[in-house]
Amino acid sequence: MYVCLCHGVTDGHIREAVSQGVRSMRDLRRELGLCGSCGRCGPHAREVLTEATAEISATAVRIPLPGTEPAYSSI
Ligand code: FES
Repeated sequence: MYVCLCHGVTDGHIREAVSQGVRSMRDLRRELGLCGSCGRCGPHAREVLTEATAEISATAVRIPLPGTEPAYSSI
């Protein structure tokens, strides 16, 4: 779905940018150009950014440091 009509940015573009390391609206604006014209896309773009960032965090692999206990039990 299009988030920014002025610059042709979709939610897929935002999710891809997040998977590449983008974590802020400032970075999104710099990478994709959204919010650079009328600015109407800002609230929806922020919403997609927040969702995508949460999804990335939820699927992150946690590797315990040597000498520390993992927060989960092994099978
Ligand atoms: S809709 Fe994004 S700048 Fe206009």
